[in-house]
Formats: sequence, C-alpha cells, structure tokens
Amino acid sequence: MSDPFATLQREHLRCLESRYAGILGALGYDGVLIHSGRPALHFGDDQYANFCSYGHFQHWTGQAGLAHSWLLVRPGQPTTCFLHAPEDFWHLPPQLPEQAWTEHLEIVRVQDAAPPKLGAGRFAVIGDLDSASARDLGAQEGVACNPPALLAALDEGRVRKSAYEIACLAEANRLAGLGHRAARESFLSGGSELEIHLAYLQASRQREGELPYGNIVAIGSHAAVLHYQHYDTAAPPQRHGLLVDAGHRYRGYCADITRTWPGADADPLFATLVDRMHAIKQRLVAAVAPGVDYVELHGWMHRLLGELLAESELVAGTAEAIVESGITRAFCPHGLGHLLGVQVHDVAGRSARDGTPRPPPAEHPALRLTRELEAGMAVTIEPGLYVIPMLLEPLASGPAGRLLNRGLIERLAPHGGIRIEDNVVVTADAARNLTPDIE
Ligand code: GLY
Ligand code: MN
Ligand code: MN
Repeated sequence: MSDPFATLQREHLRCLESRYAGILGALGYDGVLIHSGRPALHFGDDQYANFCSYGHFQHWTGQAGLAHSWLLVRPGQPTTCFLHAPEDFWHLPPQLPEQAWTEHLEIVRVQDAAPPKLGAGRFAVIGDLDSASARDLGAQEGVACNPPALLAALDEGRVRKSAYEIACLAEANRLAGLGHRAARESFLSGGSELEIHLAYLQASRQREGELPYGNIVAIGSHAAVLHYQHYDTAAPPQRHGLLVDAGHRYRGYCADITRTWPGADADPLFATLVDRMHAIKQRLVAAVAPGVDYVELHGWMHRLLGELLAESELVAGTAEAIVESGITRAFCPHGLGHLLGVQVHDVAGRSARDGTPRPPPAEHPALRLTRELEAGMAVTIEPGLYVIPMLLEPLASGPAGRLLNRGLIERLAPHGGIRIEDNVVVTADAARNLTPDIE
C-alpha cells in the first residue's frame, strides 16, 4: 500500500480505539454501532439529495460518500466496517482508497443496508437511523439509540485533532488554495460568478457535490449576502469586487477559506479596507494560543473593526463607542469563526469539556465557538465587514444614525462586503496557520 499518511493514520486509529474504550466503559456500553447515513429522497421523486456521511463515521474512515454502511466498535475486538457494496449493474459499488484504515479495520462487504446483528451485551447505535432500523434496534434488549451522553462524549473526542487530522486539514487547505488562485484569475479576466465557480472546481480538482459547503462566489453587492448561493451566468459590466468563500475536503477533513479581491472598478476606499482586513486577520491569528477565550477574541475583533470604521471615517466616534452602540455588529453580524474538522462547523463548539452547554453571548447569537482554546483545536479566523442595508437602515434611523457617514457607506455598498478567512491549529504555545498565501 502506498499511503504517505499510513503511519499517522494508524496512530490516529489507535488513539480513537483507546478513547472509545474509555468512553464506552465509563457509560457502561459493550460497543457502539455507527451508521454512515443515507441520502434523502426528494418527496414523490426517484432522485436523491447530495449525501455526506455522519461525522463519527468519517472520524474513523475519512469517507464522506459511503452511504448505508456501519461501523461496529467494541473495545478489545477489531473494529468492523460493514461496507454496503451491493452487486448492482446500475451503479459502481464503492471503491475503497489505498489508505491505512482499510487494513487497520476489518472490512466486511454487505449486500444489505440493514444494520448488522449485535451479539449479547449493551450496545448503543448512533446516526441517522431510518424508522424501521430505529424500531428494530430500539426493540432489542440492551440497545440504546442515539443516547445523548454518549453523543456528547464522542463529539468532545473530536475537538482536539490528532497529527493525522492536522495533516489532512493542511492538505485540504493546500488544495483549496489552488482553487482560490484560479477564482481570482477568472474574476480579474472578466469571468461571471458561474465561470469563477467552475474555475475553482477545475483547479482544485473536485466536483460540486463533494464540496464541504456550497461555494460562495459573489461579485459586487452580492457579497453583502452572507451565504449568497447563486451563480450568475452573465458577467456584470461593473467589477467592484469578488468575495469567494470556498473549501475542499481531504480524507473527510474540510478547508474553509475566504478571500476578497478588489476589481477594476473598485473604489480606492474598498481596496484599502481589504488590505486592512488582511492585517486584522493576521493580528487575530497571531493571538491564537492555548488558554485564549474565543469569546474574548471575538470581542477583540469587534474592537479592531471599531478602530477601522473610525479611522476610515465610515463612522464617527471612538472605537469603543462604535462597538458599544452595536454599530460593529451591523457591519459584522457573524461570528469570528468556529471549530473545523470532518464537518466544516465542527461539533462541540458551544459546550465545555464536560458537555455543559456554553451558549454565545446574547448580543452575538451567531458565534459558533464559545470555548477556551486548547492545543490541537482547529479553528477558523474570519473577520468580516459588510454593507447590509437590512441591518444598517434601522441603525441609520435610530440614535446611532448621526454617527454613520452615509456618503462613504453608499460608496462602499456596490462592493457588498469583505471577509478574510484562514484555518488555524492551536499548538502547544501558539498557533499554526494552515492556509497558504493566496496572491
Ligand atoms: N463557509 C462557512 C463559514 O465560513 O463558516
Ligand atoms: Mn468558516
Ligand atoms: Mn467560510
């Protein structure tokens, strides 16, 4: 087998085996059966929605596209993957990659999508079970379906990444970087949103259905829609700017990168703000370290945005006053970032180590990560600054309205917004930025 990641992956699997043994033992289970999931069928139709395997299944296999398969983990016994591979002349049965997990785990190819038989003992079954499986399994003595305490413990086990997982995240970033460079070139040579999207896919060698999330490819004012989901086929005559938020999956692990590029028709103010946002992102990345409270880091991002709004004269007043009055929240209604792993918004971002919920502060409801940073965590750092009329208009008509420089804000509006997003791993004493330079 020629798998350059083999040693790291075996180490990762051994670590999972021992972590699962500890969790299952503590909760009194003899084993856990993990369902990879099943694609949803469109109602009244014979076509399926895009599919992505359950995160805990991917944690062992890195396979995002294996449906109807099961993984049986029993401490002290080989972990078995029941791979759904029916003989079928309509579809190609799953082809397993040359990766160490296919030798480390026991692979049993099965024709049937039904769950494997569980022996005597106390088992948990987790995943998106269909009603028949949930009924049959739930009726078996000693079987618990999706028990919350186990789910919380397994989620927590995904928070600190192994060396293997960090290597996969780095490779996902490298591949996404190829796409971002091609997207920028396509934009600067006059491409439409669809053409930029296709250039991204081509250069990063992935099909749309395999992306970790739908690419955001927004020219001009479309960039003000945080999760803009269309791809205009016609190139607009005015080229104010491009915002691309696009990733890649490598062995299950996600890159999540955003870049904003001024276009030929950009206002110089916009180009300056893009440069300043790169600098803000760099300062925030440099502050990532174990023991840092991510909620405080998010608060610091708002203070830096307050300074930027004051210095660029978009808003009158001191940075503190701009933050206090809620103005930065209208320009940046999203969170500083989130945990990253086999899910782009990885699990357990809003709970403490012991599973206690840690909701975001009331004034920052979109913040997806509220924990203190620890070595091994992979997070995004993604400051943003948007001109969103729906959020700025109520401000403009209230007491903060007199502070807004409407002329400058109107000049910025055709550019939509700015976001710069990198992927960062917390190390023992600081951080490692996985995102390559994209110029
Ligand atoms: N691409 C989604 C996000 O940045 O969280
Ligand atoms: Mn993100
Ligand atoms: Mn993103």
